Amino acid sequence: MFDTRVFDPQSAPRAEWDALHHFRRQRLDEDTPGEPIYPDADFEADVRRAWPMWENRRLMAWRGTTILGNAGHSFRRPGSPGYEDHATYLNLWGGVLTPFRRHGIATALLRATLPFIDAMGKTTISLGTFLPSGHAFATALGFEEKHRSIENRLDLATLDWDMIAAWHATPLPPSLDWERHAPRAPLDRLEPLYPQLTELLRAAPIGALDTPPPRYEISATRTWYEEMDRHGGSHHLLLLMHGSTVAGICEASHDARFPDRVFQALTAVAPAWQGKGLAKTLKAAMLTTIRTARPEARWIITSNANSNAPMLSINQRLGFRLHRQDSTWQTTRAALGQALDTRACP
Ligand SMILES: CC(C)(COP(=O)(O)OP(=O)(O)OC[C@H]1O[C@@H](n2cnc3c(N)ncnc32)[C@H](O)[C@@H]1OP(=O)(O)O)[C@@H](O)C(=O)NCCC(=O)NCCS
Repeated sequence: MFDTRVFDPQSAPRAEWDALHHFRRQRLDEDTPGEPIYPDADFEADVRRAWPMWENRRLMAWRGTTILGNAGHSFRRPGSPGYEDHATYLNLWGGVLTPFRRHGIATALLRATLPFIDAMGKTTISLGTFLPSGHAFATALGFEEKHRSIENRLDLATLDWDMIAAWHATPLPPSLDWERHAPRAPLDRLEPLYPQLTELLRAAPIGALDTPPPRYEISATRTWYEEMDRHGGSHHLLLLMHGSTVAGICEASHDARFPDRVFQALTAVAPAWQGKGLAKTLKAAMLTTIRTARPEARWIITSNANSNAPMLSINQRLGFRLHRQDSTWQTTRAALGQALDTRACP
């Protein structure tokens, strides 16, 4: 037997935090063995913080003083900029310790989440997973797989630096200039660029996902930079500019707590400049930058839609290899209610 309760980070006693740390470490060992784990103090600070753009709530399944499973729901903070676009969307996440699976714990946690979903008027429910058990659960609860992305990793020890030098040496069209920013880009420089960068971001495929239109948001960048100021880290932004127009972008970041890895974010070339090898130039420039700025980095980690053939092909040539596939599943509030109604309460 177990009972489900909301975990309130502001009032949780120390014993509940300790139980949560124990649980999350067990879960991470099960799902992502060998991957770095945030220190407890950072995790607690993150969970307690009122994030300006997003809000997370957590329900736990308890047996006595032990947590067996959790289910969180995250959503755009009401009143944050652009909230209207996000008003009906909610993301679910969570997990159950392996020995306690197939006992209806996740189903019970979802059922306990419904009143929150309804109170907020959420109608499109998303869930991300990369594990077979997650796919099976989502299928059983009537979710549909809407998007799959591939997390690829490049071991820098295997990189062909001669090829990178050749890509980097390819002459640029004469009207293009580099603009480089690190370890931060000035927010007053980014803000006027964001409408253009948003256009480039939206060209990246996202399958059949029903989602608010993705956009670069200065308030999100401000929060991210404040976070990096706290724990250390850097944002590397490379732009190819045609006057005041962005022809191409490549951005990456690192987190000082995990110095062996760099996260490659968007690489994109504006339609007018595609077909000229600029994506390879951008990638090569970024890898060269990282080699100098972050000599301790071993891995470059990136995610691309499985339908993004051009980027996957460039990454393949660089030596990126499949690490895992992440799927986003979606359902509606109405369909979720029906699926839960057909399942027995444990
Ligand atoms: C997905 C997960 C949370 C399910 O937890 P759970 O408590 O075992 O789920 P339930 O017992 O409520 O399962 C409900 C139904 O889902 C289906 N299901 C769940 N896990 C399954 C599996 N491994 N294989 C096949 N079907 C499965 C079954 O139909 C099950 O009903 P049944 O046992 O009566 O046949 C758990 O497996 C887990 O933690 N996985 C790793 C994390 C993850 O992928 N989370 C996804 C959400 S972010």
